[in-house]
Order: sequence, then C-alpha cells, then structure tokens
Amino acid sequence: MKRKKAAAGVLCCLGILFLCACTQHQTKTSDRLYVGVACYDQRDTFLGELLNCFKEKMSDMESDDLKTIVTVRDAAGSQKTQDDQVKELIDAGCNVLCVNLVDRADPSEIIDLAREKEVPIIFFNREPVAEDLRQWDQLYYVGADAKESGVMQGEVAAEVIMSDSGIDRNRDGKIQYVVLEGEPGHQDAIIRTENAVETIRSKGISLEKLSNGIANWNRAQAQNRMQQLIAQYQNEIELVLANNDDMALGAIDAYVKLNRTEAGMPVFFGIDGTTDGLQAVVDSKLAGTVYNDKVGQADAMAKLAAALITGEGMDEIKYKNGKYIYVPYSKVTQENVGEYLRKSKK
Ligand code: BGC
Ligand code: CA
Repeated sequence: MKRKKAAAGVLCCLGILFLCACTQHQTKTSDRLYVGVACYDQRDTFLGELLNCFKEKMSDMESDDLKTIVTVRDAAGSQKTQDDQVKELIDAGCNVLCVNLVDRADPSEIIDLAREKEVPIIFFNREPVAEDLRQWDQLYYVGADAKESGVMQGEVAAEVIMSDSGIDRNRDGKIQYVVLEGEPGHQDAIIRTENAVETIRSKGISLEKLSNGIANWNRAQAQNRMQQLIAQYQNEIELVLANNDDMALGAIDAYVKLNRTEAGMPVFFGIDGTTDGLQAVVDSKLAGTVYNDKVGQADAMAKLAAALITGEGMDEIKYKNGKYIYVPYSKVTQENVGEYLRKSKK
C-alpha cells in the first residue's frame, strides 16, 4: 500500500515537472530571438565594424523577456557557400536571418529556403534587385542610399579643392583625377563615382579624368592599382576619389611606399568613416570622407529583427516602399571628425 502511494506521488511530481517544463519551453521559444547572420566576406573592414555594432545592439536588447542569440557565418566570397550556410542556420533553429549577399543578383535559393520554413530575411548592405525583394512579403532591406554618399563625397571634395589653390599642382585650371572603384555590380560602386564627379563639376570646378581602377573595396588591391597609376601618370594625379575608405587608404599606402612627402601627393577622399578612415582624417592624410552609419544600420537591423519575432514595434519603423530602411549618410570633414571618432570609440 505504502509503495503504491509513493509511486503515485512520484508520478504526480513527474507530471507537474513535465507540465512546468512544457510551459517554460513554450515561453522560451516565443521570446527567443535567434538571428543567423550570413556575411559575404568578413575580411571586409566596413562589414566587420557593422557586425560588431550589430552584436552589441543585440546584446543590449536582451532582457528577462527576450533572449537573444547571434550566429555569424562567413561565405568568404562564394555564393554557393553562403546558400549552404543559410540552410545550416535555418536547420539550427534561427528565427530571423540577416543576409549580406555575395552576389546581390542571386538571392533566389536563399529566399526559397527561408520561405519554406517561414523565417523572415533582413538583407543588408548589398541590395537585392527590387523584383527579388517582391518574391515574398517577409523580405526586408537595411542599407543606405548610394547616390547620397556620392553627392556628399563630391560636396566635401569641392569644398576642399576650392579652399586650396595648391591642389591644382600644374596650375592648368583643371583637377586631374583618378577613381578607385568597388566591386563591379555593387549598388554603391558606379553610383558613388558618377554622383561624386557630377557634384564637383556642378560647383564650377573643371575636372580631367586620367583613369579609373577597380580594387573591389580592398586596401591591398587599391595599393597595387595605385602603384600602376603612379607609374603611368607620375606627378599628374591631383585628386583620388575612392568608393570607400579602405581603397583611399590603399592609395595613400602606395605613395608612402614610394617615400613621397605630402607635397608630392594628391588629395584623397573616401566613404565609410571606418575607424582607420576617421583616424586618417584626423591625421590629415585623408582630406575627408562620408559616414556610412554602421551604428544606425545595426540598430535598424536589430530593432526590425526583434519586431518580427515579438510583433511589437513594427509600426514605429519607417520604411520606404514597405520593405526598405535607408539610414542617412553624413559628411566628415577636418572640422567635425572629432565627433565621429568619439562616437566610434564608444
Ligand atoms: C561599403 C564598403 C564595403 C561594401 C561591402 C559598401 O557600402 O562602403 O566599404 O566594402 O559596402 O558590400
Ligand atoms: Ca591641374
């Protein structure tokens, strides 16, 4: 008899424990934000900094009601690798994906995988074409407007050129320039170049293009390309417009390697305001840059990811065309660079 009672007691306890475990598990899954991040190439300086900001925002968001986990996968430049990584992230239980496409024209496989398991996707930094973003209503994009960054680079450069007559070193009334471009096909490459050049011209400055070189956003490639351009044009180059800070820094590296003093160098402009880029502005190596707001973009991604899971805060997000969040750029000059440096060291 005693035994029977004891057995019943144990069973009862087990039942209660089981019920508790179930309810606990249920609240946990619904309030758990597990973000799988797929990055095109983690060696990219801007993306490395953006992802650090994102991880920070996600851990700031953690509370008793919301548990956050972030897993980052690096595709190292292969779309096939990225497709496999996205599948693994979904299988591991991610409930939101943040995807930085390797090939921004080829997201279909990733969209199909996510749609099958109903995992929403926030694309970021490498913008899919509009048609692809319309494939499903759970697709979003967080980034910035390429044209805005080009115009701002042009404005910063025009101001510097107009305030220093010494930049026109051969005094022919024209500024001889070269452009260092990001990856072909990237939304930020051609558009930045076109708008920067057009904006400088619109201020009444006469420009003469010597050449352009593709350096795929990369500092070492830019140094190489710049060495070739210097060999070809010698002292003729007066202005270097780079599609990002890393390539502007690579161009400076090329002149430093040749032991050129500042007097023998052109002026350089970048875009991004990476930690090294901002420091180069402080040191007057880079004449100016445009801040690609990694903190703002990371914040928008984290808030959207949380809203997609909790269902709260969705109305507060300001979208363009219901799916796009474009975070504004801003100009970084010798005068205001200190503010940006303080922000980025925080
Ligand atoms: C940034 C570059 C970066 C590229 C990667 C651009 O928006 O300005 O620095 O390499 O995105 O996709
Ligand atoms: Ca000149």
